[in-house]
Amino acid sequence: MTLKDEVSQRHLPDLLRLLDGRTVNTAELWQQRREEIAGILSGEFAGYPTRLRVSTEKKVMRCEKDSYGGKAMTEHCLLIIRSDFSEAAFPFTLTIPKGKNPAPFFVYLAFTPSPADGIGEEIVDAGYALASVCYQDIAADYFDNHMTGLGRFCTRNPYDSWGKLRIWSWAASRILDGLTGDERLDFERAAVMGHSRLGKTALLAGAFDERFALTVSCQSGAGGAALFRGKTGERIENLRGEGSRLWFDGNFFQHSEETLPFDQHFLLAMTAPRYLYVTSASEDNWADPKSEFLSCIAASEAFELLGTEGLRHGGEFPETGTCLHEGHIGYSLRRGTHYLSRDDWKNVIAYREKHMI
Ligand code: GCU
Repeated sequence: MTLKDEVSQRHLPDLLRLLDGRTVNTAELWQQRREEIAGILSGEFAGYPTRLRVSTEKKVMRCEKDSYGGKAMTEHCLLIIRSDFSEAAFPFTLTIPKGKNPAPFFVYLAFTPSPADGIGEEIVDAGYALASVCYQDIAADYFDNHMTGLGRFCTRNPYDSWGKLRIWSWAASRILDGLTGDERLDFERAAVMGHSRLGKTALLAGAFDERFALTVSCQSGAGGAALFRGKTGERIENLRGEGSRLWFDGNFFQHSEETLPFDQHFLLAMTAPRYLYVTSASEDNWADPKSEFLSCIAASEAFELLGTEGLRHGGEFPETGTCLHEGHIGYSLRRGTHYLSRDDWKNVIAYREKHMI
């Protein structure tokens, strides 16, 4: 069976068909379709972000002039976000390699307040800057009635108000606002990256904010890069559990895999024709590497319509250890289980270097 057959056996909703039935075969029609998809994903999956007009201010609280043995400088910042009705702030760190400016950079959604030293040094040595934020500083990862952090900008209704993924991804865009104008950074080469639930978050950030030239999803699985239809491991019913229900909007759980008005290739395709990088791990059955890979293939249609190559592959599911780096969708399958490995970082950096992104 070819990969194309495998995708068609998933019976996915048609990426390139407008709701009124027209085929999407031009870049103009794709723009219309993209807006439709944005509406579908907001209404039925992630929820809508706040509509309040906000301003952001980045405040440097402390500066390490010589971090990573003097190879970089690190600013410990506070991002303050203000609307007419509310104000919130969260900390993040900005590390900039010395002598390599303006530097391409990562907005990295992290599980911890600062990334491990070793990997930070790899990133700095490769010439990338890193804006790193601990996701729980943005809004707590438990039911809080949206009373912590940025959740307060928009209350929770049972239907289509933002879930936590949307809040965290909205924060990634606010970090970008706060960094704007910093001449040490190359805004043509901004990436957003996260692992697992934060890989789902990074996909939303890159999908909805076109300033991100590269979106990186690491082992994001269900609700991330993986197709829901035909998926093994985690399913919608599992996401409905206590720990993850709050990540999505309420409408999402009205659907089963079969009735979803979208599948995750819609989310990936929102990044077209920019760059997208998806990593899987061979033993991560809960996330389901195969469904992540097929999703990249299904999303490639949009990239191709826009005149770029999506995922270039060898005609079958790649062997463990393979990196597919040719197209605007990059993919790697590393050996091992569910964690963010230095190999994932290295593969992402190799992809960035190859495409000068
Ligand atoms: C759980 C959850 C996944 C999620 C992961 C994580 O395993 O089921 O959907 O990606 O946590 O974020 O660590």
